Amino acid sequence: MSEGGRSPLRLGILLSGRGSNFLAIARSIREGRLAGAEIAVVISNVADAPGLTAAGSLGLTTALHVSKGRNRAEHDADMLATLCQHEVELVCLAGYMRLLSPEFIAAFPDRILNIHPSLLPAFPGLEAQQQAFDYGVKFAGCTVHFVDEHLDHGVIVLQRVIPVLDSDDGHTLADRILAEEHIAYAEAIGRVASGEWEIQGRRYVRRLH
Ligand code: GRF
Repeated sequence: MSEGGRSPLRLGILLSGRGSNFLAIARSIREGRLAGAEIAVVISNVADAPGLTAAGSLGLTTALHVSKGRNRAEHDADMLATLCQHEVELVCLAGYMRLLSPEFIAAFPDRILNIHPSLLPAFPGLEAQQQAFDYGVKFAGCTVHFVDEHLDHGVIVLQRVIPVLDSDDGHTLADRILAEEHIAYAEAIGRVASGEWEIQGRRYVRRLH
């Protein structure tokens, strides 16, 4: 039980690559900064994803569901089965580089989070940091949002903002955004786990007591 008497929220992490956001979440839990959550399972759709290896080294439960060449609905049904088997309550996309099927999204209504390296709704899609840099914005950042059926579109849980420096290039900007992502994701999960926040239309706000 966590401090408030609630059981920790069971997270299912989905990743495809290096997994630095996953590791930041795991570190927050281990260091007691995210006491309201626990990682139930880490799933990769890519066999050699470094994030999957890191999860195994931490002693976490892992699963590999290779998606390459597979029908999306069938692949996602297999992931759903694994998430259900581990009684996952909140799915966290952490660099999961594949679109989810409508069936998967419907199975976890307002229970899937994603992190995106821009201040949405600006610069959805791939290479968002470079898009922002090329556009010449003066502020950049990251967004944690609920996943709906549209790309990088669901209700925003929180954003973190940084100035773009004259000395930046696309790479340094991406590095500084990533550092913000590592703070933002755990904080967003904490909001969901607290039970103190709710969706009102497109807004995610603290409940009035
Ligand atoms: C991050 O930039 C995240 O915002 C985006 O994919 C990247 C994943 O990085 N969705 P990592 O695998 O968590 O290091």
